Amino acid sequence: MHSLIIFGASGDLTSRKLIPALYHLFLKKRLPLPLNIIGFSRTVMDDDEWRGKLSETTKEFAGSVFTEDSWASFAALVHYQAGDIGDAASFAALGSRLEALENSNPADRLYYLATAPQFYGPAAEQLGEAGLAAESPGASRRIVVEKPFGTDLDSAQKLNDSIHRHFDESQIYRIDHYLGKETVNNVLVLRFANAIFEPIWNRNYIDNIQITANEEVLIGRRAPYYETAGILRDMFQNHLLQILTFATMEPPARFDAKAIRDEKVKVLQSIRPLSEEEVIANSVRGQYRSYRDEPGVAKGSQTATYGAVRLFIDNWRWKDVPVFLRSGKGMSCRTTQIVINFRQPPHSLFAGKTPGFDPEGNRLLLQIQPAEGIQIHFMSKIPDTDMKIRNSELNFNFKNSFRGEMPDSYERLLLDALEGDASLFARNDEVEAAWRIIDPVQKTWDSGVMQDPEFYETGAMGPVQSERWMETFGQRWFDLCPMV
Ligand code: BG6
Repeated sequence: MHSLIIFGASGDLTSRKLIPALYHLFLKKRLPLPLNIIGFSRTVMDDDEWRGKLSETTKEFAGSVFTEDSWASFAALVHYQAGDIGDAASFAALGSRLEALENSNPADRLYYLATAPQFYGPAAEQLGEAGLAAESPGASRRIVVEKPFGTDLDSAQKLNDSIHRHFDESQIYRIDHYLGKETVNNVLVLRFANAIFEPIWNRNYIDNIQITANEEVLIGRRAPYYETAGILRDMFQNHLLQILTFATMEPPARFDAKAIRDEKVKVLQSIRPLSEEEVIANSVRGQYRSYRDEPGVAKGSQTATYGAVRLFIDNWRWKDVPVFLRSGKGMSCRTTQIVINFRQPPHSLFAGKTPGFDPEGNRLLLQIQPAEGIQIHFMSKIPDTDMKIRNSELNFNFKNSFRGEMPDSYERLLLDALEGDASLFARNDEVEAAWRIIDPVQKTWDSGVMQDPEFYETGAMGPVQSERWMETFGQRWFDLCPMV
């Protein structure tokens, strides 16, 4: 028997992501049954009221698969318990409710912290104090912690300490929804289930790596959070660095949580730390022009909505290969991609045959989203010419190759957490290593030693300065809006 307890039950994450993901898993018959799903938050309501609210939101967010009949069967698993994270009595009541729903049978419990971040530590403490964190045979107690996990290294360490007071590291599942994306996982498959890529996946053949996560969306109602977070905390410390680990880690010996996470930590720890001077030379920040007009944004806000950072991984595989990370809001299109730029051929036989042609090295483009797929860019002969050449593409697209919709990443991650597979969740040392990389950049950006973030127009490819900055390294961004 399983129980999934969602703290922050009346929040957006629960209605937009968690419940639709659980409903999809239910329809696919993948949920481990019997299962109780218990929502916990301050709003006072009974089971039926919560089911009613969720039925409306799930209709909206679960897509065309929603039917009243299947919803009724799913809703029978759903319960609600009003309570306050600051109140010990609410946790005692939660304990009794769980006992009743589980008929006092041993059950695996998964506590999901979908609350505002300031409640992560207190919720874990209360669970511990109420005796709800202690495991026994056949009764695991796992806790899922949403992002952001801290706002810097110091706060992340404090949060780790406070959760560790009652939960062992093996019970803790720090979620990064990018790790549940099919195409992020496919990076591992591409690299480690094929023999043709890995031999060239190193400094001998690769010139540079570019990891981009651009979004069209603006900040909207999220100013109170975003003003204190900014692009580095919101996208770099977690999603971009996680993608970087998959793209650059050494092959793990086995596909299990320890082996994979050991390799991820190693690569994060190999990233060369940046001094203040190096941050100034190796990063660019921008702000979309209308950002300061968003409700809740300070008039002179220095918060970056665009960032680009150049990093180096000091190990045998990657020494001196620049890895460029960039992300922005208000960009011309939504695209998350990994671009592996290979070196130029050592000697060009055909340069003189195609006047004005600017040769490029081969390129492997891993399109994470949307238009999930892979492209290989290579040179080919233009037919019916005298050895003139041009860039050509080989295309692989998931939608054309597999039937069905790409599942939302929360489906995979919820199922893994329910089943106790932590491979796609971040370990404490991993989160802390990521903060060690981002902290100096954030500190330098906040210190006022750099020029203000450059404005860029929404719908553009970020600040102009970012292009010039790339040119100073003899590089240029590979910009492509995917064809969906
Ligand atoms: C979240 C960030 O973690 O990821 C958001 O807080 C961002 O700012 C979102 O928009 C992007 O996720 P996805 O899955 O839409 O690429």
